[in-house]
Amino acid sequence: MNKATRKAVIAGNWKMNMTPSQATALINEMKPLVAGADCEVVLCVPFVDIPAAIEAAKGSNIRIGAENVHFKASGAYTGEIAADMLKELGVEYVVIGHSERRQYFGETDQTVNLRTLAALNAGLKPIVCVGETLEQRELGYTETLLKFQTKMALTNVTADQLKDVVIAYEPVWAIGTGVTATADQADEGNGFVRAAIAEAYGADVAEAVTVQYGGSMNAKNAAELVAKTNVDGGLIGGASLKAADFSVIVKAASEQK
Ligand code: 13P
Repeated sequence: MNKATRKAVIAGNWKMNMTPSQATALINEMKPLVAGADCEVVLCVPFVDIPAAIEAAKGSNIRIGAENVHFKASGAYTGEIAADMLKELGVEYVVIGHSERRQYFGETDQTVNLRTLAALNAGLKPIVCVGETLEQRELGYTETLLKFQTKMALTNVTADQLKDVVIAYEPVWAIGTGVTATADQADEGNGFVRAAIAEAYGADVAEAVTVQYGGSMNAKNAAELVAKTNVDGGLIGGASLKAADFSVIVKAASEQK
């Protein structure tokens, strides 16, 4: 398997934006713009927007994802959301280990792994985020860190389960900053992720895994980024809140085929 046969996934990460009624309006605007896309189109939305988003996306090619999931199946974890709850609503994907959760909410490589396993066990497709800070990059630790984060996230995930896993390489310094990694930096980072999977599971398994790039991907730079050998789509923050911009990114990924 190679880039031509791997599934490209363009996923929006709305972060803490959009009320349920705004979600409905935005998805209704997006639907005709992304119809017929030759890539997977996903919108990861705040928990409370999920029912409205699922309803609005019905009958379209837009899949709905969540932005986090707890690692326990149920119990006394006030304020948390379990994988089965998301599954029952019709959620298909879930972002796990976003750098904002690592930075602000105490997410660790270990909890990223536990959430990944919980999502897979419930039949959800995890979009697992990895990425280095600027300081780590400048110290020369990018490859070591990306490989470590990737392997930690996938501990006890079987090769068969890996078919449902998407990894997003999101350099922390490129998130929400308007500073995008160059296409070569994105390709290199995604390559480190794929190499880590190859080390753990073998090259054939690694070649089949979708690895996205994320970090200030927008309507202008998407085509160059998704053209790279190791870049199978993107995880998009700010530009996923604008129907026109998001649809240009989806089109760029579709045209890679
Ligand atoms: P921006 O596209 O806003 O930089 O956010 C990227 C991101 O964090 C997606 O998860």
